[in-house]
Formats: sequence, structure tokens, C-alpha cells
Amino acid sequence: MVGKKIILAVTGSIAAYKAAHLVRLFVKKGAEVQVLMTPSATEFITPLTLSTLSKKPVFTQVIAEHEWNSHVELGLWADALVIAPATANSLAKLANGICDSIVSAVYLSARCPVFLAPAMDLDMWKHPATQANVQRLQGYGNHFLPVGYGELASGLVGEGRMAEPEEIVAYLDAFFQHEQDFSGKNIMVTAGPTYEAIDPVRFIGNRSSGKMGVAIAEQFAERGAKVTLVLGPSKLAVKHPNINTIKVESAQQMYEAAVQNFEQADISVLSAAVADYRPAVVAEQKIKKKGENMTLELEKTPDIAASLGKMKRPGQFIVGFALETNDELQNASEKLAKKNFDFIVLNSLQDAGAGFNFDTNKITILHRDNMRKDFELKTKAEVARDIVDEVAEKVLSLKF
Ligand code: C5P
Repeated sequence: MVGKKIILAVTGSIAAYKAAHLVRLFVKKGAEVQVLMTPSATEFITPLTLSTLSKKPVFTQVIAEHEWNSHVELGLWADALVIAPATANSLAKLANGICDSIVSAVYLSARCPVFLAPAMDLDMWKHPATQANVQRLQGYGNHFLPVGYGELASGLVGEGRMAEPEEIVAYLDAFFQHEQDFSGKNIMVTAGPTYEAIDPVRFIGNRSSGKMGVAIAEQFAERGAKVTLVLGPSKLAVKHPNINTIKVESAQQMYEAAVQNFEQADISVLSAAVADYRPAVVAEQKIKKKGENMTLELEKTPDIAASLGKMKRPGQFIVGFALETNDELQNASEKLAKKNFDFIVLNSLQDAGAGFNFDTNKITILHRDNMRKDFELKTKAEVARDIVDEVAEKVLSLKF
């Protein structure tokens, strides 16, 4: 952590008293720390304590005494933004882009990874509104430190304690350690569903949200890679500066973008749920309701993965995906060989919480030598980390 620039943003919770210890630990590790506080945080711990420990003035407002504390500059300066404690109120504001304090202004401007350590009472933490905000923030690529279980300021016992300062520092330390292990590498990720037009208003699609592929793209980007994300119709917003997103709609468009970008990709991850068939003819006008039945003739779409598998040069690496409902391992290992993948990530629809539209996933990784790794049910951000770690293990020792 030596020389890392960390912004510690403190919001108004009783756990704010732990911020003093956190600043101390960051400074001891050699980091440069800039503290921001919301006005209510200053009721719990004084700016003087935190400015003394961080050896820098603490900012509590965007505009203070006729001076503008540039949130944009701060956002660009930082290598990491740590929001600890993060109250229910601040999570709600950040999740909705409400920009009414220096903390939320810097959050919206920051291009660096963001870490949140929530702290609140157990019922506030469990409330569906808070959980929805957490999910949304995770979907934007932010990292959450798990809340602890134990006695809370209210006297109640449950989940909602802020992670201990030592845990927060250890998490960041681990994050920075392999932070840039993919720097200089070009990655291509395909993600999301495809829509195959029937007529100008209708299409054949599927339930893929794109969450898994976007999480993988973000994980590579955070670890220093240049990522081209070929994304089918998905509601997700991707904001990392290392990610160049190419939006496509149909399997044909995804095929063309993938083939074009494959040449310079050291590693390709094909997580898109590509339609296998499309209407043979796309009607120019909206199809009118006529008889009792209607038959649509379908034709095959290009198999992107198989085509890239054929184009693969020595030194290029391809990760494929398989979503199976039956004979999972058998089907996945056949696809691994047929499409010339280096390994395949299998998710089964039989596992609760895995697959389309969930925020969690449970995967098995199968290698060409039949080596197999089974993982627990985890958030898609954690699964992305496991997949990228697996690529790192296989690829980073090889010479390109
Ligand atoms: O054959 P199946 O669709 O199950 O194979 C899944 C894998 O192949 C995934 O990696 C998926 O992204 C890829 N695929 C593709 N183009 C297709 C169909 C699947 O790239 N037309």
C-alpha cells in the first residue's frame, strides 16, 4: 500500500469513531490519506482528530469559506475511495446519484475502485430498501466489506456492525497486491443476451442480464487490462475507464464485433447468451394477426465461440461458458473440446440462486485436462474474481 492515495469518506454513524484507527493503519502502511466527512459525521468524531492523524486538512463541504474543494480533482487523484462507515442514508444517496455532500460528489466523480463498509442497526440493514441499494451499488462495480455480527449501538444483537479497521486494511492490501496483474493485456468479453428481430417491433430474446460478463470485464479492467466489452441489449451501465463497450443487438452484430476484436485480444471470455436461431426472414412491416396459428421459420445464427476457436493462434486464450439444465458436466466438457476453449465455466440452472438475472452464481470450472474446480454460491463480483484468478494462474506464467 506504500504510496497509494486513499480517500477515506466518513459518514454519520457511531462507528465513525473507528475512522481514527483506520486512518492510523493506512498511514502506517505508507498510504497517503485524504479524509472527507459529511456534516453529520463531524458530530461523531472531530475533523481535528482525523486531520491530525492524516496530516492533511479534512474536507466537509464542496464549498467552504469561499474556497472550492474540487470533487473532480479529488476523484481523479485517488487510487481508492473507501466509504467507512457507510450509513443507510449514504447508501441510499449513492445508489440514486443524489449529490448533496462532498462525499457523494467525490463518489460520482471518482474513477478509482470504491469500497464501502456499511454500518447500521440490524433492521435497517435487513430492510429491502437498503438491500436493494446495496445490490444496485454492487451492480455499478463497487466493493462491499461484509458487515459484522454482534452487539450494535442500539443494544440489539445482529448484523450491521462495520467491518473492523484491520479487516478493511487487509481487504485493500489484497486488492492492491494483484491489482495490476493484467496490465498490458488486451481482453475481449462478450456479455448479455441477443435480440433477433421478427419484425420492426418484435424479437426473440432470452433472460440474460449481462451481469456476469460485465462483472468479469470490470474485474479485468480493475487489474490493469484494456477490455473490449461486446455487450448485447442489457440495462447495465459500465463506467470503468479501461472498458470500451461496443453495444450490439443481434447475434450477427455480436459475431462481427467479436471477430473484429479477436485478433488483438490476448484473452477472450465468451459469456454472452447468444441466440442459436433467428427468424429466416425479418418482416419489413409489423406482422398482422391472421389465422389461429403462425409458423416462424428459423435459421441458425453464427456460432461466435466456435468461429473464434478456429481462429485461435498459439498464445491466445479463450474462456467459454455453458449454462446447462441436464447432463451438465458431460455437455460442458463436449463444448470445451468442440469450441476449442481453454477452460469452460459451467453454471447449472439446477443450483438455486445461479444463472440468469440473479446477483449470485455457482460455478464449476472445467479444464482441458479434466481438472475440475467447484465453487460455492457467491455474488457475481466474487465469481468474476475467481474466474479472473483462474485465468491469471493459467495465462500469466505463459509468454505471449
Ligand atoms: O453451445 P452453447 O450456446 O451452450 O455454448 C455456450 C458458449 O458458446 C458460451 O461461451 C457462449 O457465449 C458461446 N456461444 C457463442 N455463439 C453462439 C452460441 C454460443 O459465442 N452462437
